[in-house]
Amino acid sequence: MNNKLFFTLIVSGLILFQACNTPAGQGDEIDDKVEALLAQMTLEEKVGQMNQYNGFYDVTGPAPAEGDAKHKYEHIKNGWVGSMLNVRGAAEVRKMQALAVDSSRLGIPMIFGFDVIHGHKTLSPIPLAEAASWDLAAIEKSARIAAIEASAEGINWTFAPMVDISRDARWGRVMEGAGEDTYLGSKIGVARVNGFQGDDLSANNTIAACAKHFAGYGFAEAGMDYNTVDVGMATYYNVIFPPFKAAVDEADVKTFMNSFNIVNAIPATANKHIQRDILKGDWGFKGYVISDWSSGREMIDHGYARDLKHVAELAANAGSDMDMESYAYVNHLADLVREGKVNEGVVDDAVRRILRVKYELGLFDDPFKYCDEKREKELIYHADHMEAALDMAKRSIVLLKNENNILPLNKDKKIAVIGALADDKDSPLGNWRMAGEDNTAISVLEGLDNYGVKYKYAEGGKLITGPTAFPFELKVNTTDKSGIKEAVNLAKQSEVVVMVLGEHGLHSGEGRGRANLGLPGVQQELLEAVYKVNKNIVLVLMNGRPLTITWADEHVPAIVEAWQLGTQTGNAVTQVLYGEYNPSGKLPMTFPRHVGQVPIYYNQFRTGRPGPKHEVFWPHYMDESEKPLYPFGYGLSYTEFDYTNLKVNLKAKNQVEVSVSVTNIGSKAGEEVVQLYINDKVASIVRPVKELKGFEKIKLEPSQTTTVTFMLTDKELGFYNNQGEYLVEAGDFEVMVGTSSVSGLKDKFTLE
Ligand code: BGC
Repeated sequence: MNNKLFFTLIVSGLILFQACNTPAGQGDEIDDKVEALLAQMTLEEKVGQMNQYNGFYDVTGPAPAEGDAKHKYEHIKNGWVGSMLNVRGAAEVRKMQALAVDSSRLGIPMIFGFDVIHGHKTLSPIPLAEAASWDLAAIEKSARIAAIEASAEGINWTFAPMVDISRDARWGRVMEGAGEDTYLGSKIGVARVNGFQGDDLSANNTIAACAKHFAGYGFAEAGMDYNTVDVGMATYYNVIFPPFKAAVDEADVKTFMNSFNIVNAIPATANKHIQRDILKGDWGFKGYVISDWSSGREMIDHGYARDLKHVAELAANAGSDMDMESYAYVNHLADLVREGKVNEGVVDDAVRRILRVKYELGLFDDPFKYCDEKREKELIYHADHMEAALDMAKRSIVLLKNENNILPLNKDKKIAVIGALADDKDSPLGNWRMAGEDNTAISVLEGLDNYGVKYKYAEGGKLITGPTAFPFELKVNTTDKSGIKEAVNLAKQSEVVVMVLGEHGLHSGEGRGRANLGLPGVQQELLEAVYKVNKNIVLVLMNGRPLTITWADEHVPAIVEAWQLGTQTGNAVTQVLYGEYNPSGKLPMTFPRHVGQVPIYYNQFRTGRPGPKHEVFWPHYMDESEKPLYPFGYGLSYTEFDYTNLKVNLKAKNQVEVSVSVTNIGSKAGEEVVQLYINDKVASIVRPVKELKGFEKIKLEPSQTTTVTFMLTDKELGFYNNQGEYLVEAGDFEVMVGTSSVSGLKDKFTLE
């Protein structure tokens, strides 16, 4: 143990001794350790804890001799860096951690953050796909495995889950969230935080989670990333905030990340109201808030801060505790304190929060606890992780159409496989696979091979031209149609054509908005050309967002939504196509018929002109239906479920029991997501037409019936008014229980 750490522990020990002799309720053990350490810190060291740097040099090589890297290197040794991001690998993290622990005066360990978004090395489905499983246990397990692998690579903090609700499929980052619904999104956010943080944060295989991006980032206008957000308080309180609040209340999430956008015309990073009053005040959040990448500095471009010093003043005072890559705090915060523009109490509060999380992770007990090369070797790509990734991938698939039960296929059928994505080992990994290795997914073709399926393949044309990379625009093939002919010829000779079409893995993600939501490039033309010669098409979609596949829905008999399912993609798709697994996913986001309908979502406010009406004066379009292509909560199975016997019982004040019987009336065992929606008929603010307030995933054998019971309480029955007060109002409600947001049995109840 180094001297500084030893000294710290002695002081902490003394304080702990005192704490044991003070009456209960006067601060816990960690608080005392934090206070003891804080008392020893200089202002610069405190500010250092609030500073996060991106990885800046090859840690395995010699120390940087010049420039920015040398600067950062020296800062770590001086104790002016509290955290690093994008440094990984047990050996690399050990080396960098040693710089802080052995060289700085107090030896305070750094916390190592990384975007562990959907798996780590073993990649799980993109978060939107996982959300389609509505399977909270599986989602929690997926995050658990991601944490096990990431922690084995030295990481102890993930910038996930993204709990931003979004109703706009144009926004590239919908792939990173749980979709459009705040109730489902809250449950999934909690499951993910629990998976990352586990039961014991101090264990060496659990990591701190981060609820991001606080708040409203998913409402960027026109679905364009980083664009203006301008929504009303009813939406903030009832739609945007709940998944964040649930992460605090129900999962004790350790950190938050603020966002690039403005909230009521004030950048989130400098938004005192949401960070201090709501998050740390009303909700009692004890962890710390990190800025988004350079979101502090960006306030200059927003026209909200004059310069970097002003950024530091505004952000620190507003409760943004750690600065990611803006260099605002490290350069200016100490001066601002000396000038009296930021109270030292503000700095102390931020540092306390950061140190507390480091103590909870156990970093002070052993700063190198995540740096075990043996563990790293054993755990990365562990067979159990692969198996769980396959299970999660299958659960994430949504069957959108299956006319005449063309699916599942059997191996006797002569099949053609068409589409560049069928042979793609990279796209299925999705966008946020920061630690993932290129081309490591099992492609659809490989999945078919693994399952012993005989097929013939034609690419049908390239999807992308030229190299692809995380930061750069994709070049989509829109001109070369030469591959279509071969595909058409192959389709002519086949009984069934499996067409794997959709988006490249980098079509969605940060900075990847789309103004068109159709199949990119020449794929639509390919699909129509093949359809002309063979109508027995099974369309397998690979995509990071809802797509406007209206033509396909009208013509193609079977459509399987396979998103980007991670490492095990090909195996999962094959097992669904061949009936080895009965699909059970339900859409977490509405599929529009046309991009002009966006934002389209199931729980819109009630308008004054509900339709349809005889005349034109109601909310609709002249040239397109106002209805979605596939609604929220929709998804088919190879079996069928029948809903009967809906019962509603008022048990006590604001306690409504709702039960329904569900029977598997098909011939295969299957899983169903039973969904409950309510509508508050008259309220003191306008309420949505319906809102999801309960769901349960059940498994039924053929002919088996089960009763599903929901209990609606204050938590489900109320809402926030525009002042942020939570109300449960007396009056009439409608309730619907069924298989999607548009189909179910209905009843009513009245709250006294
Ligand atoms: C993203 C964050 C991410 C951060 C660090 C930003 O550009 O908005 O979600 O965690 O980068 O990689």
